[in-house]
Amino acid sequence: MQLTTLKKLIFDKNIFAFLKLGKHVDTMYRTSFVTAANSSGVLDFLNQGGKTLEQLQQLLTVDESKKGALSAWLNCGVTLKELSLRDGKYQLKGKLSKHLAKDDNQIAAALFEEAIRYHYDALLSAPQRFCGGQAYQLADQDGQVIAKSSRILEPFVEEAIDWALKTKPTPQSILEVGCGAGQYLVYLRQRLPDSDILAIDYQQDVAEQARQRLKAANILDIAVEHRSFFDLQGEAQFDLITLHNNIYYFNEAEREQVCALALQLLKPGGKLLLTTSCQGGTSAISALNLWFSLSEVGGALPDAQQFQQMLTKAGFSDVAIKRLLPGESYFAFCAVK
Ligand SMILES: C[S@@+](CC[C@H](N)C(=O)[O-])C[C@H]1O[C@@H](n2cnc3c(N)ncnc32)[C@H](O)[C@@H]1O
Repeated sequence: MQLTTLKKLIFDKNIFAFLKLGKHVDTMYRTSFVTAANSSGVLDFLNQGGKTLEQLQQLLTVDESKKGALSAWLNCGVTLKELSLRDGKYQLKGKLSKHLAKDDNQIAAALFEEAIRYHYDALLSAPQRFCGGQAYQLADQDGQVIAKSSRILEPFVEEAIDWALKTKPTPQSILEVGCGAGQYLVYLRQRLPDSDILAIDYQQDVAEQARQRLKAANILDIAVEHRSFFDLQGEAQFDLITLHNNIYYFNEAEREQVCALALQLLKPGGKLLLTTSCQGGTSAISALNLWFSLSEVGGALPDAQQFQQMLTKAGFSDVAIKRLLPGESYFAFCAVK
């Protein structure tokens, strides 16, 4: 290097400024690479042992003309030390990729993917989206990833279900709205072996995922229908209606309709149990709030107090609220018709 170049570098503030940012840039590269490697099945494949470029090409069904791009992508993983390349075989090397590849960590991995794919994009594109940019649609999220990531809340939702079932009478007919991967249907069936349970979900692939989940648990008496809550009409027929982690898929006006429809479908004395993240949470909940604020799917997360009032205004009595996660804005609402 010439002395003049070295002098320029020493006095160039931008170079030092960039060096200070280097670790943040690396984090961004690392998280992007590892997320894509996990969701495409590459981490799982490499977890079984080293693989050649050709084997990875086959796994990802990469056309011969794109083999160079695949190699460039894998090389990023090697540079980031998430992969190694020895004797022509790629292997898992980094702590993050090994962590995400583990079978036991797949719910956490889905949550990580949700943050990297959707929350990151919302934070990055928000200023354009405020000014006429396209609003997010339901199809912008992979329903199966969301259904899986939502499972991180399982212990808290199960606590909410126990809370709602504490007071008699025991519900005989139950409707679960937006059942996702179906894990709460399994829990409900364990808690109430004799009840009639109907589940619905708006997304076909997610409804299918719930059916598979029930089948795997050998539960064959819960129907999972692919339909919207608003398609259900008719008489008061349920003792309990549950909505977990989906009220923000409905906009403000629709939330009033959800409450009115739930009230219509519940028998006198029946209960509505709803769990949701609310305004005022930590970074993950704030980013979730941003995504839904920028979407056409629903709207911002509810304010807990205002939502409680909305239920009362809709005609419910005894509207109780319970914080499920200490220090986090995650609540259950239980309201009686
Ligand atoms: C974040 S997921 C939560 C899934 C599940 N309840 C859980 O807690 O794991 C929200 C689910 O609500 C469903 N959903 C959204 N709007 C709906 C509607 N109008 N009718 C039925 N399901 C709906 C979505 O398809 C999605 O599967």
